[in-house]
Amino acid sequence: MVATTLEKHLAATANAIRAAFRVDELPKTLIVLGSGFKGFEKAINSSKNIELGQLPHVATPSVQGHGASLVMGSVDGTPVVVMTGRLHLYEGLSAHDIVYPLRALSQIGVKRVLLTNASGSLRSNIPPGSLVAINDQINLTGTSCLIGPTGKYFGKQFLDMSSAFDAQWTQKICLLDKTIVRGVYAGVLGPAYETPAEAKMLAGLGADVVGMSTVQEVIAAHQLGLKVSCLSFVTNMSGGLGETLTHQDVLDLVAKNQERLQSILIQTVGV
Ligand code: HPA
Repeated sequence: MVATTLEKHLAATANAIRAAFRVDELPKTLIVLGSGFKGFEKAINSSKNIELGQLPHVATPSVQGHGASLVMGSVDGTPVVVMTGRLHLYEGLSAHDIVYPLRALSQIGVKRVLLTNASGSLRSNIPPGSLVAINDQINLTGTSCLIGPTGKYFGKQFLDMSSAFDAQWTQKICLLDKTIVRGVYAGVLGPAYETPAEAKMLAGLGADVVGMSTVQEVIAAHQLGLKVSCLSFVTNMSGGLGETLTHQDVLDLVAKNQERLQSILIQTVGV
């Protein structure tokens, strides 16, 4: 897509969001909810809601209909916008498609984004149930939202990624809950989970947790000049390291930790 077409599409998407929310500008803080963090939108006061799939030019997932929406409102008096789900590469979408909503939101006032996700752990000292503040990432998806002619439309195409995660904001978030640990996130394509050999390789590369999202959003947000922070909830050990968890075990773990995760997100909006 050439820049002028993209420009028109983004303007149409931004206008549709403005019209639906009846505002010119959105709150400056965006929170993107990954698995494990869903339900946080219920903590938002006087919220207004738009289905992401109803916005013009937002890609529709071909594999899973997540029913993601944008919710705008406030938490303890601080305005916030929340995306209740995200698009993934494994749904058959391009890197450009999956960061498109973020790019549209940045055009209408979003200045910082907290990305949340679920991950598998690569370290025995980061067991399921841990919450990890991501302080660096390894993009192993084999693609980038900066490739091609539109890669330089939003900023530098050869982007400096040496400080993509905002250290100050992340530090403030870590102070909210002393159990949060820091770690490196490996972003893979999925959708199959890692083999034991892949999990071993990822640990050897320096990753602490692995997941199938987020890395493209971090690149796009950093290129746009947004402050970025990322919290990852560990649902399992990757590649069969440690004990095997059933899907029910994962759901139980998420349910057990829901209040704690929601409380951290509520406090994050204000720091
Ligand atoms: N691997 C990749 N993605 C994941 C995992 C995992 O073990 N757990 C949750 N998302």
